[in-house]
Amino acid sequence: MPTLFDPLTLGALTLPNRIVMAPLTRARAGRSHIANALMAEHYAQRASAGLLIAEATMVAADGCAFTGEPGIYDDACVAGWRDVTGAVHAAGGRMQLQIWHPGRSAHSSLNGGVQPISSGERAIQGFINTPDGKQPYENPRRLRDDELPAIVDLFRQATRRALQAGFDGVQLHGAHGYLLDQFLRDGVNDRSGPGYERYGGSIENRARLLLECIDAAIAEAGADRVGLRLSPLAGSNDLQDSNPEALLAYIATQLGQRHIAYLELRHMDPALDAERRIAAVARQHFKGPLLRNGGFSARRQRRRHRLRTGLPRQPGPGRAAEPGGRAERTAAEDLLYGGCVGVHGLPSSRRSVCQP
Ligand SMILES: Cc1cc2nc3c(=O)[nH]c(=O)nc-3n(C[C@H](O)[C@H](O)[C@H](O)COP(=O)(O)O)c2cc1C
Repeated sequence: MPTLFDPLTLGALTLPNRIVMAPLTRARAGRSHIANALMAEHYAQRASAGLLIAEATMVAADGCAFTGEPGIYDDACVAGWRDVTGAVHAAGGRMQLQIWHPGRSAHSSLNGGVQPISSGERAIQGFINTPDGKQPYENPRRLRDDELPAIVDLFRQATRRALQAGFDGVQLHGAHGYLLDQFLRDGVNDRSGPGYERYGGSIENRARLLLECIDAAIAEAGADRVGLRLSPLAGSNDLQDSNPEALLAYIATQLGQRHIAYLELRHMDPALDAERRIAAVARQHFKGPLLRNGGFSARRQRRRHRLRTGLPRQPGPGRAAEPGGRAERTAAEDLLYGGCVGVHGLPSSRRSVCQP
């Protein structure tokens, strides 16, 4: 029976343990969006995890939603990240980069006046932190179908640059209501009519941009170095879908045919019936490694799952990446410092943590 500390093959990577650090935006790259020595220290400190997934990183210079987030859109970004991956590898770790575009979650004041883009024209109901203080989200510009090859190319180039920067692969950010998710879900994707119909309407059409970006990443890195994060039930960034199970079933089937390294599901509360059902849909249609993250707290794990790790006290794969977080408490727990995406390969009785 595997434990947290048994190795795991995840695509091209052999992880020495099954602990995966979730992507966590730290906003430490400053205005240049170039990764720096502080970030190298941060990630190298966590290199004992089986895999680190670095924070959401801009594929486009005008695709910023958080002041100080890093980018991977030019040679200077590559050079900055190279120092980070070098430090992680020197410490014995493995690291993938989460590549993303925020779409309508961006703001013109963070992007030199450039209007945010999306599948549709509806703004997020809410406010965004900008250099000028909190401001309402803006109405995005609806991308035409003929503009989408350029978006795919951003993900292709980001993957190429991530490899040049020394990453062991990429995770595409298809979750949390950002650009790729804005095409997937019909809460905002209401495309139709001449010039807008190929990526809107049916599930197949709405998934087209995501799958084209996956294919572009595969062409650069190979399927076994490409992962995907989805959050089918998350309402983040004001986004919903009318039939998340059918949407996921289609995407998971397509991903399975492409043999990507893993699919990661971000849950809001994994104990909810709807979240359990969505995980079952993913498991049914995607036979590769399935990672699950979100809300697996220390208390819940102790009570419900009782992972057999040999630790006197088992912190869950939780929001433990914050310095000073609860996972720092004992030396035995240090391996879990940095949190987890999920725990893969445990027995089915612990299925709500992991789906082998
Ligand atoms: C400070 C912070 C930054 C985050 N940044 C990202 C990110 O860059 N990309 C992403 O996909 N998720 C991000 N998340 C979500 C986490 O990866 C994770 O899904 C979330 O914390 C739920 O897991 P947990 O309950 O184990 O903490 C962030 C979460 C926090 C708290």
